[in-house]
Amino acid sequence: MKILAIETSCDDTCAAVLEDDRILANIISSQVDLYEKWGGVVPDIAKRAHMERIEPVIAEALRRSKPTPNPSLDERRGTKLSPEEIIEKEIKNIDVIGVTQGPGLAIALGIGVNKAKELAKKYNKKLVAVNHIEGHLMANLLKNKLGKPDRKVEFPALALTVSGGHTKIILIQNPPALRAPSLEKGGQNKFEYTVVGETLDDAAGEALDKAAKMLGLGYPGGPIIERLAKTGNINFLELPRPLADKKILDFSFSGLKTSFYYKIKDWEKERIFKNINNLAASFQNAVFDSLLRKFKLAIEKYEPKTLLASGGVLSNLELRKQLRKLAHEKNLTIYLPFKKELNTDNAAMIGIVTYLKARNREYVDNIDGLDRDPRLSL
Ligand code: KG4
Ligand code: ZN
Repeated sequence: MKILAIETSCDDTCAAVLEDDRILANIISSQVDLYEKWGGVVPDIAKRAHMERIEPVIAEALRRSKPTPNPSLDERRGTKLSPEEIIEKEIKNIDVIGVTQGPGLAIALGIGVNKAKELAKKYNKKLVAVNHIEGHLMANLLKNKLGKPDRKVEFPALALTVSGGHTKIILIQNPPALRAPSLEKGGQNKFEYTVVGETLDDAAGEALDKAAKMLGLGYPGGPIIERLAKTGNINFLELPRPLADKKILDFSFSGLKTSFYYKIKDWEKERIFKNINNLAASFQNAVFDSLLRKFKLAIEKYEPKTLLASGGVLSNLELRKQLRKLAHEKNLTIYLPFKKELNTDNAAMIGIVTYLKARNREYVDNIDGLDRDPRLSL
């Protein structure tokens, strides 16, 4: 099954082409350069950028997914055609279109949803609506062109998904999307994904981004903090661990952020600059410590057979290392997306959910009636 997937839930314009669960092309047009001076995503700018980029990005994904491209000839032809013409030419090989319906930034989601509807109607394709968070979860099952890595998830599985918009621990009990093509069509059971813990305020990625802003660093802050933290002292600044001694599985990062703010608010720029590595390390460690503590607690409570982790913050090598260590201690297999770019927002993760839902014939019945859903829950 050939799938075209579209993702525009936040600040990246993304399109991918998959053959079943194998990635043939995965194009990400990042908008981060547009937000550096604002320190975060600006909805109007995101909308305009998505509108300008959506067609070229889809065209590029279709073009790069071709099985036996003759690069030079193809490149030359490609440059002569407009994105619209490339789409027109290449979309005939596509069986299903999948698109992120939500959750996310309304104005941004709308661009992807409308484009997917337009293409599905114009070219008479089946359409699948995808939940962005399910995309992050299933990103762990994506394979490269050659079908590697081949992973087996055993249920119940426990997933930690951490990004700029969400921080959740999710218990997965054999979701319909992962079953073999089923006879009982569509029967999405509400209890197959259970959010057992989540942030009560800021997401972990958001906390890292805000701390970076306080330190006068760029956007997004997560990767910058990771780089600085490598040579810093995690015990330099004593920071709280909100909700740490409670047995609940929820997170809170807003108190940590406020405490960090008050600790450094009277510091001269020079003092911050001199200690930037130590400050980054202390803050990052406090965030990761909370994530690990709660995930460990959840493992002990739910006794899963497999662990999954995904979302933008999982690009962080230190967090990946600590999670692998925890899995090892618990004698469990942990799967993380096999490529760095599959942690942050991308359309391949939307493509794999499209594939799994299409196998169960979970198509959108009324294409005109499909609307973005900024608050869509799992
Ligand atoms: O999944 P994602 O691309 O978008 C959302 O759905 O939010 O995640 C973006 C978040 C940002 O907060 C960013 O700072 C964080 O992921 N992030 C990182 C790293 N790379 C991205 N955080 C820590 N370390 C990284 N290397
Ligand atoms: Zn995301």
